[in-house]
Amino acid sequence: MTTTDQSSGLPGGAATEVERARERVAEALLRSRARSTLLTDAVDDDDLVRQHSKLMSPLVWDLAHIGNQEELWLVRDVGGREPVRSDIDELYDAFQHSRASRTELPLLSPTEARTYVAQVRDKVFDVLDRVPLHGSRLVDGGFAFGMIVQHEQQHDETMLATHQLRVGAPVLHAPDPDPALVAPIGAREVFVPAGEFTMGTSTEPWALDNERPAFQTHVDAFYIDTVPVSNGDYLAFIDAGGYDDPRWWSEVGWAYRQKAKLTAPRFWQRDGDRWLRTRFSVVEPVPVDEPVVHVCFHEAAAYAKWAGKRLPTEPEWEKAARHDPATGRSRRYPWGDEDPGVEHANLGQRHLRPAPVGSYPKGASPLGVRQLIGDVWEWLDSDFQPYPGFAAFPYREYSEVFFGGDYKMLRGGSFGTDSAAVRGTFRNWDHPIRRQIFSGFRCARDARPAS
Ligand SMILES: [Fe+2]
Repeated sequence: MTTTDQSSGLPGGAATEVERARERVAEALLRSRARSTLLTDAVDDDDLVRQHSKLMSPLVWDLAHIGNQEELWLVRDVGGREPVRSDIDELYDAFQHSRASRTELPLLSPTEARTYVAQVRDKVFDVLDRVPLHGSRLVDGGFAFGMIVQHEQQHDETMLATHQLRVGAPVLHAPDPDPALVAPIGAREVFVPAGEFTMGTSTEPWALDNERPAFQTHVDAFYIDTVPVSNGDYLAFIDAGGYDDPRWWSEVGWAYRQKAKLTAPRFWQRDGDRWLRTRFSVVEPVPVDEPVVHVCFHEAAAYAKWAGKRLPTEPEWEKAARHDPATGRSRRYPWGDEDPGVEHANLGQRHLRPAPVGSYPKGASPLGVRQLIGDVWEWLDSDFQPYPGFAAFPYREYSEVFFGGDYKMLRGGSFGTDSAAVRGTFRNWDHPIRRQIFSGFRCARDARPAS
C-alpha cells in the first residue's frame, strides 16, 4: 500500500522527492546570493556603477538583472504574484541593451538594487514554500527555480570576469587549490574507442533545453589529452613563434590575430625573459603547471595544429567525460552520478585560479581523463546546434535564437562556475574571439587504425 502525502496528494516516496527538491532549491538560492553579495560588496559604489570594460555590464546592472529575472519567472510566472517593480523590466532586458550601452541607462542605484533583489528574494522564498513542485514542466523537480539559480550563478561568473577586467587594488581573496590533490597523470593521452554513446539528457531535472533530449550518437575512435593544456605547454608554442606563423592559424583566426595584435593569452605581459600575468589585480609570474586560461578559440585551435593535434568536437568531449565502457551508460559527471565535491573538481570560486594540471584524480572519467569539470572552460571545434528532437523551453531566447550563429562550444565549467551551473551535459557557447572568459582547452587527435 502506498502512503499518500495529504498536502501534495502525491505518493509518499514522490512527496519526499518533492521535499528534497525544495531543500535543494533553497540551499542553491542561498549559495548563489551569498556569491552575488560577495562580488558586489567587495567594491564601493563608484566601482559598482562603472564600466570596467566595454565587454561587460556595470556590476550594478548584473545585480538588478539577476533580481529582475527572478521576479519575472518565480514571483510573477510561477508564483502568480503582483510585480515587485514593473517599471524596470525593459532596463534589465539583456536583449534590449548592449553591454556597452548599459551605463547610460537610468539604472537602479546600488542601494536601490540591493533593496530590490532582497524584496524579490523574500517573495521567492514564500512562493517556494507554497507552490507544488510537480504537475507542470515549469515546476517539476523545481525546474524554474533551478533555471533561475543557474542564471544567477552564470552572472556570478560574468561578474567574476568583470572583476578580472577591473583595474585597482585587489579586493577578492581565496585560498589556492590544495597541492595535495595533484597526482601523477601517467599517459598524456587517453584512447577512446569507436562506438555509440548516449549524449545529452532527458532526466536531469535542471538541465536546460539545449541539453535535451538524450540521444545515441556514434563517435569514431580518438585520443584526447589527459589534462588541459598548461601554461608551460602554451609557452612552448609562444617560444616557437606560434603567434607569428600563419601555418597554424585558420584564415579567420589569422586575420583576427593580426587585427587584435595577439601575442599571448589575455592578461599576460612580458617582463624581460619571463612572462607575468595579472589575476584579480595581482601581478605574478605565469605558473607553468596551471591550465592556460584567457585564450580565444582561434588561439586554442592554432596551438592544437602546431602540436600536431586538433580541438575535440563536442560529442568527443562529452563521450570522454560521461561514457562508461563497463556499463555502456553515460554518467552525470565524469566521476559518477554524485554531485561535485571538493575532491572532484575546482568549482564555485572556492579558488580564484585553475588548479595545477593533474589535480583531482578522484574527478577522473572512467577512461582516466581529468579536470573535465571545473578549472577552465574548454573550447571545442563544434558550432552551437540543437540536438535531434530539440524543443525550446521555456522560451526561445534561452538557446534557439543562438543556434547557427558565430559561436563555438565550451564545456565543463571553470573555477568561476558554480556546481549548480555545470554538469556533464551542460553546454556553453561564445564568440570564437572571446578571451575575458575563463577559457582554456585540451587537444585531441584521430586514432587511425594501424595499416
Ligand atoms: Fe542574464
